Parts: sequence; C-alpha cells; structure tokens
Amino acid sequence: MTAYTGHAGSKVILLGEHGVVHGTDALVVGLQTGLSATATQADEFSVSIPDWSLSNRDILQKLCEAFGRMFDILECRGARIAFKVNADIPSRAGLGASASLGMACARATCGLLNLDADEELIFNAVLSFENVFHHNSSGVDIRAVARTGCGVYHRKRGYQPLAAPIPSLMVIHSGAPGATRDTVLKFERRLQTHRLASSQLKRIQDMVRVGVDALMSKDTAALGKAMNEVQDALCWFDMSTDALDHICQLALNAGALGAKLTGGGGGGCAIALLAEEGQREEMKRKFADAGYRVVM
Ligand code: MEV
Repeated sequence: MTAYTGHAGSKVILLGEHGVVHGTDALVVGLQTGLSATATQADEFSVSIPDWSLSNRDILQKLCEAFGRMFDILECRGARIAFKVNADIPSRAGLGASASLGMACARATCGLLNLDADEELIFNAVLSFENVFHHNSSGVDIRAVARTGCGVYHRKRGYQPLAAPIPSLMVIHSGAPGATRDTVLKFERRLQTHRLASSQLKRIQDMVRVGVDALMSKDTAALGKAMNEVQDALCWFDMSTDALDHICQLALNAGALGAKLTGGGGGGCAIALLAEEGQREEMKRKFADAGYRVVM
C-alpha cells in the first residue's frame, strides 16, 4: 500500500502574539520538534493521534470539519485517507500544534495524491484548517512550523527569515491547556472597548522591533527586557494566568533574562530566555520542584 509521511515542526513566539492578529509584527522561532503524519489510501477517512487524548466528540467533529476545509482548498474533497500521526509536542500548549498537524497532514496529502500544490496553496489550506480551532488566525503559527529558525511575521507583509541563531530558551508547561480561541476573542473585545488598549498594542509593536534588533545584535539582555515588557502588556490584556505568572517569576528569580507566556495564553506554556546554557539544569530542577513540566 502506498504511504506518504509529511513532517512539520513547532514554534514559540518570542514577541508579538495577539498583537500580530491586529497588525503588529511577531518575532517567532520555528523548532524542529513537532509531528509527522503518515497518509495511506483507505476505505474511509480517519485520523489517529495516540499521543493526544482526543476522545471528546466535539474535538473529533472539529477535526473532520478542519480536514474537510483543507481538502476543499487542496481540491481533493472527499479524499479517503487514513492519517496516523506521531506527535512529539503537546496539544493546546501554545506551541503551534494545530498548525503543525495541519501542515504535516497537508504535506502528506499532497505527497500521497501527487497534488501540485505550492507553498501558498498549502498555507491557505492549513489556515482554513486552523481557523476551525482558532478565531481569526493570523497565520504566524503556520509560517513558523513550516521551517526551523527565527523570523518576523506580519499578516500583510508575510514571513521574513532572520539570519540569527535561535537563542537559549526553556519552554515550561503551566499544567493547564491553552485557550487560544477564547483569549483571541477576549483580546479583540478589550481592543474594541478599552480606551488604553491601543497604547498597549503599540507597546507590543515597539517591543517586537526592539527585540528583533536585540536578536540581530546578539544583545540577549535587551531581548529579555523586551520579553518582560510584552508579558506585562499581555497581562494588561488578561492573557496570562496565575501559573504562567508564577513560572515567569521563578524563571527571573533563577537568573533568566526574560520570561513570558508564549502563544495564545490562558494556559499552555511560558518561555524563559537563559543568560547562558549553563543555567539550564539548575533551572529545570527548580521548575520540577515547583511542580511544572519542562517541555523543551
Ligand atoms: C497563537 O500562537 C498566536 C496568536 O497571536 C494567534 C494568531 O496569531 O493566530 C494568539
């Protein structure tokens, strides 16, 4: 039986989540760790992701809808494909799992059916897929999980890779699932209704610019400061949780240069920017002692 495997990575947003939905840039890092999806021709469509517990009927229905939308754009509506997915990243953690799932499956579908799809078509197919789970996806996750390395993303200008090494980061799970759909809606509402919201949005945009310059000039301390300031702005928008704030505080107390939630927030993961790789083991122990799981 013919089979085809597609891969996609994961991502962390260093700066600019939520703002990027409303026209700011985002500084993002695509990571190699992600998932792979093997597609085979079958009697009927199915998806199996043993690494994630997806028994909830609502989620399964959404998955079917998402694949339906993706197949429409790839012009293979009704394709009878069985997908078997190996996921090395948790779902609902702010690490781009839904974009990664869509990207790996789109790549596997194109390979299996020998479809002539370019990067833009695949992007649009995965955007349509992701929007079933998210509200108003900016597309940042999709661009980031498609490649490894640092880049700047803007909704209109697209993705620009940056010739900068990936900084030393630690990714820590708060223990609660992320709630991107809810937080994106909440951010939007706050933006529409609070008179100070646009200055907080500008603060995010300014810090993305500072962060990009800092990354390019290897000024890790300045990058960390920008991350802390963006965390402050995200807290103003009520995107964080007690556990995410606690992780940030633990990281800074342990000598990290910056710490913030990453992705949608409302749960999921925080990231810490290490001053040096030598900090990693001790910091890992501190998070373990406090009951948090270090994901990467
Ligand atoms: C989610 O990883 C990032 C958000 O900005 C949503 C998006 O840009 O699609 C919260």
